[in-house]
Formats: sequence, structure tokens, C-alpha cells
Amino acid sequence: MLKIGFAQFAPVFGHPLKNAELIESMAPDFQSADLIVLPELCSSGYNFSSREEALALSEVLPQSPFLERLHSLCTQHNLYLVAGVNERDGDLLYNSAVLMGPGGILGKYRKMHLFWNEKDIFEPGNLGFPVFQIENLTLGILICFDWIFPEAWRILALKKADIICHPSNLVLPGLAQRAVPIRAVENRFFVVMANRTGDEGDLHFTGCSTIAGPAGNVLAQASEGATEVKIVEADISLARDKQITPRNSVILDRRPADYDLICKS
Ligand code: ACM
Repeated sequence: MLKIGFAQFAPVFGHPLKNAELIESMAPDFQSADLIVLPELCSSGYNFSSREEALALSEVLPQSPFLERLHSLCTQHNLYLVAGVNERDGDLLYNSAVLMGPGGILGKYRKMHLFWNEKDIFEPGNLGFPVFQIENLTLGILICFDWIFPEAWRILALKKADIICHPSNLVLPGLAQRAVPIRAVENRFFVVMANRTGDEGDLHFTGCSTIAGPAGNVLAQASEGATEVKIVEADISLARDKQITPRNSVILDRRPADYDLICKS
């Protein structure tokens, strides 16, 4: 059994090291978790007034002081973390999520579907939909608004992801929280959606971080406004059984020859 969970909190806008401290203060609740997912942009906060402001609050990988603090947590707790970061690459910014473990950074994903004013700040992701291997486990990452594109989840299922880590700063009321268990059952994998709480300017973040299992069941859910860590035991063999009835596989019963329209822009 693998222990997977989320840490839901309200990052402080503009203070990456304060946010590292907040994450450290939750670490006693990580217990013996194997994997903890943190919210989107939990280094910097979300609601930038300009691209210049976002640049000033960005992290260059892998030297980021924020990520060094998270790396120490991974080492101390023998833990893997997925954390949303405001990533700077040269002059460009990406809304990214980093997977790190005791050995350091294992990989990153750059958000493919940018939401609203993010389009003024970040470049659209240019790394596609990678999956990452931790021993015999396969992990995929999506970030927040990516949730509304079922194609993204399906691609990760076809790449044999067992768990989707979903750092989020959700603002549309309650929609992703309802969709996540459905995305889980459509693809028969686990999903750990780590949302944030609190407000920034006119944005209210909706909390209710959710862990869903391959049967579409909600295994854990946080409240709307509290700082919370929740961890569940996940039997990964369930994510490798794609049968939804003895005669129906969510993968093998697809009809891709008749889906070509989906691949046209
Ligand atoms: C979002 O994609 N942060 C709503």
C-alpha cells in the first residue's frame, strides 16, 4: 500500500520562503506518507498584477531556495513532493509543477492550458504530458484548469499513469471537485487534487482538495477554507485494472479510429 495525500493551505502572496515555512509547519502531519501534493504556484501565490511582478517572484530551477527547502523535507521524511512553482526559464515564465524526492528534482510539468489572465503572464507548457517513474509507480501531473480537458487525462492514462497529481488554485465554484472523481473512473487511476484556500484580490480559492480512487470514489476531501493535510492508503494494483465490468475495459473498448476529429484543431 502506498500512502498518498495533499497539503491544502493559503500561500502568502509574494513570499516564497514564508511559503516554504508554512509547508514545513505542516510536515508533522505528513506522517509516513510516500507522496504529498501541494497547490499550484505555492511558491509565489497566484494573482499577479503584471508579468514584471511575476518575474520578480519566479524560481530558476534547480537552484531555487524555495525548492531547496522542499528538498530538505523530502530527505528528512523520505518523501516525494509535487509542488506548483512559478518557473523562470531565461526571460520566459511557466506555471510549472516539480516532482522531487530525497534524490532531488525528478522532473517537471508545465501547465498546458492557461486560465484567464495567466495568458498575460506565462507561456503555454511546451513539455507535453510527461509521466514520471518512481520505482514501479508511474505518475502524471496536471495543473488546475487542465482539468477541463479530458484529453489530457486520457493521454496520461494511455501512458500508464497510476496516479495523477493535480496542484490547483481553483476559482470556479466546485466544478473540478465534482469532475475529478469522474476523470478517475473514466481512466481508472488515482487522482490527488491539492487546491489552495483563501483570497487574493478579487479571487476566492475554493479549497475542498480531493483524493479520488479508480472506482470514482472520493477517498478524502478537505473543507473549503482550512489548512489541512489528508493522506490515504492506495492499492496501486487497482489503477492497473482497467475493467469497469468483466467485459468492458476503459482502454481496450475505445474506438480511436472514429475519434480523429478530436485531434484536429
Ligand atoms: C486555474 O487554472 N488556476 C483556475
